[in-house]
Amino acid sequence: MNIRFAKPADAQAIADIFNQYLGIATMMLEPLSATDYQPIIEAVNSPCVVMCNDAEIVIGFAYVKPYSNRGGYILAGEITIFMAPETVGKRLGGHLYDELLPEAYALGYRHLTAKIWANNGSSIRFHEGFGFRMVGTQVAIGLVGGKRIDTVIMERVW
Ligand SMILES: CC(C)(COP(=O)(O)OP(=O)(O)OC[C@H]1O[C@@H](n2cnc3c(N)ncnc32)[C@H](O)[C@@H]1OP(=O)(O)O)[C@@H](O)C(=O)NCCC(=O)NCCS
Repeated sequence: MNIRFAKPADAQAIADIFNQYLGIATMMLEPLSATDYQPIIEAVNSPCVVMCNDAEIVIGFAYVKPYSNRGGYILAGEITIFMAPETVGKRLGGHLYDELLPEAYALGYRHLTAKIWANNGSSIRFHEGFGFRMVGTQVAIGLVGGKRIDTVIMERVW
């Protein structure tokens, strides 16, 4: 297992992992493509890291992107992490944040937001372990498969 910055050639593998969580751990319901991830991988202010297994297959990714293009939000980012389903719960995801959080800090981020489905207790506990605190619940904000979905907002402040 190794962790490195994402390269443009990783975009499809990243999309393939993300697309396994449509309507499960993300409000995105339509598959994303490699093209959707190219700007994140290439932007200097969007640090993106991937975890590869011993066969150099991407098994997880995490990135921070600007929270908003409004100038007053210059310090704020939104963080995302997805591990391939077969790797979940193996205490691997934290290694991605061990690399990503210092990089985000070095780039000037001082506030990170994570938006998480309220039923995703594992992700909530995971983020608490990395210093995120619960801001609150957005009740019934989502509609997926005919069901209303609650999400929680978590934040980490430096
Ligand atoms: C959320 C996710 C990235 C966590 O990565 P992971 O490698 O599976 O996490 P872990 O194996 O460390 O398991 C999480 C558990 O460890 C705990 N944990 C992990 N790192 C921790 C830390 N540094 N300090 C304290 N607790 C920690 C969490 O509290 C959680 O507890 P639980 O066993 O009671 O659920 C991963 O499970 C995943 O990608 N899930 C599917 C997609 C998803 O939900 N993405 C997040 C969308 S918001």
